[in-house]
Amino acid sequence: MSPSVYPPGEEFARKAHVQGLEAYRELYSRAERDPEGFWGEVAAREVHWFEPWSRVLDWNPPFARWFADAKTNVSYNCLDRHAASHRKNQAAILWEGEPGDQRALTYQELHRLVVRFAWVLKSRGYRAGDRAIIYMPMVPELPIAMLACARLGIIHSVVFGGFSAEALKARIQDLGAALVITADGGFRRGKQVRLKPAVDEALQDCPGVRETIVYRRTGSEIPMQSGRDFWWHDLDAAASEDCPAEHLDSEHPLYVLYTSGTTGKPKGILHTTGGYLTHITATMKWVFDLRQEDTYWCSADIGWVTGHSYVVYGPLSAGATTLMYEGAPDFPRFDRWWRIIEKYRVNIFYTSPTAIRALIRQGEQWPDAHDLSSLRLLGSVGEPINPAAWEWYYRVIGKQRCPIVDTWWQTETGGILIAPMPGAVPLKPGSATLPLPGAVPGIVDLHGQPVGDNREGFLILRQPWPGMIRNIWGDPERYKEQYWSRVPGAYFTGDAARRDSDGYYWILGRVDDVMNVSGHRLSTMEVESALVRHPAVAEAAVVGKPHEITGQAVCCFVTLKRGDWNHDQLGEELRQWVSREIGAFARPEEIRFSDALPKTRSGKIMRRLLREIVTSNSVTGDVTTLEDLSVVARLAAQQDEE
Ligand code: WTA
Repeated sequence: MSPSVYPPGEEFARKAHVQGLEAYRELYSRAERDPEGFWGEVAAREVHWFEPWSRVLDWNPPFARWFADAKTNVSYNCLDRHAASHRKNQAAILWEGEPGDQRALTYQELHRLVVRFAWVLKSRGYRAGDRAIIYMPMVPELPIAMLACARLGIIHSVVFGGFSAEALKARIQDLGAALVITADGGFRRGKQVRLKPAVDEALQDCPGVRETIVYRRTGSEIPMQSGRDFWWHDLDAAASEDCPAEHLDSEHPLYVLYTSGTTGKPKGILHTTGGYLTHITATMKWVFDLRQEDTYWCSADIGWVTGHSYVVYGPLSAGATTLMYEGAPDFPRFDRWWRIIEKYRVNIFYTSPTAIRALIRQGEQWPDAHDLSSLRLLGSVGEPINPAAWEWYYRVIGKQRCPIVDTWWQTETGGILIAPMPGAVPLKPGSATLPLPGAVPGIVDLHGQPVGDNREGFLILRQPWPGMIRNIWGDPERYKEQYWSRVPGAYFTGDAARRDSDGYYWILGRVDDVMNVSGHRLSTMEVESALVRHPAVAEAAVVGKPHEITGQAVCCFVTLKRGDWNHDQLGEELRQWVSREIGAFARPEEIRFSDALPKTRSGKIMRRLLREIVTSNSVTGDVTTLEDLSVVARLAAQQDEE
């Protein structure tokens, strides 16, 4: 059966930044013919530079320098240039707390708050190249902290508030951070989630951290260590408003964001300044078709890359109004998100397939009770969206008026690479459609040979792009090995995909030992190492199991040390153990006890077999087709054998 095709609506296309397939193709081939010329033009148009570059791209594979020697500043681009324009009184951030409190920060006001906080950091001796960990709830002070760091060239690493003290500690240590910016806690499902106690626990083993700055959000009682911990509001009270943006090199590190790889140790993905900013600013217009009057809402937590690129830096650099919501989508009722869309007249809404599937389950009465007519564009990210969820999103939320941009990218790519330009590219539910200008994907077999149309293979990228990962923090060897060694000269994404005869890309899922749970990347090894730290566990093998709502769920096979164990009790204990070691989002769905684990002759656990076991006896709903899953298993198997 050929899938349905949805051409851009006439009205939408007429006002779009890029109108019609021909216009897209022209842009794409211009970028293909002359990537440096193309990106040079985009960078000059979208970004403010203090000093020009000597070369657009200096490519010494696999190390890239984009706009080398040019000087710019991300904080300046997101704030100063707008605060000095007609946008100064436009809302930069609209924020709603879970309890219902709200704030609207204009560009001028956000600029003021960032300058004050940057002054605080500077006056305490932090300088370009220093590292700060940010561990905060979804409050405006989180982007304020990021933008203040960026203003001075302090490299930040945001750790998602759902991570445990253990996970936080590993990231602080790996980064060599001198400062932790945090909060007493935040609100989630009506409860206070405490953050500072996790920081205190982590800091017992982090002698490199000199200070913490604590934002008061919930007002809960927390211990403050004199001489080390400082209240944000106390420091702010003494702050000055004179703290200009540093003129930083285009390749100055902007942030490190940790993500799961195929070992137990998370990788610190390094992004830098000028190229990243160029890429995400351009994609705000190409993919979200951003207009001056739009209210834009990306529901991702800022602790993940989607939040970095498309809640904070992309929208602010493009001069948009970006909405942030602190809490859970189902609090106090299942219609919280629809109430927010109605209340703020949201025009562009960007979320994940997992969230959509969870909302489908609650029924159409919740969105139907609200006026969603302000919406004009919908987006999806983080995992393949199954056609049934796509159709629901299109019909029930978008009322068959709003194009859906299914955006494929990764923490490593920095910004979107495969997605429709909504005024130009006809949509096919379940496909991320066509590559954006400057993205040159390929689909290859194990030997790096291109496979034909409609054949599954490994998704690679053949050309460097400005937002690309620059390195793994402190581990260039791993960077080369993980991304650039499988297919010579190309970037290996770790995803399987196929391209149809119209050139559309269909992403099938990961081919490595990385699970995708609710759109969050989680390595099987990370969960395994957590499990074997438990005194009862001898061995553990973890695989992703298809799940109707979350895409995949964590399924653990465990062998126990000798002893008299109560399996029910121990199963629950191990689930809690993993939440404590990594974070609640990693909590296993299933623990299966077994006497032995299947292994190869050389002693490697055959995860592929386990994957097949959990897949074949439990495919529910239409998450993805069985065929796709077996493809992924086959490709992964090929790789195992290599
Ligand atoms: C998956 C999130 C299908 C993919 C931005 C990728 C997707 C991983 C899509 C990166 C999509 C992301 N369709 N799969 N539209 N978007 N993925 O680093 O497997 O958290 O490799 O970045 O999510 O996840 P990450």
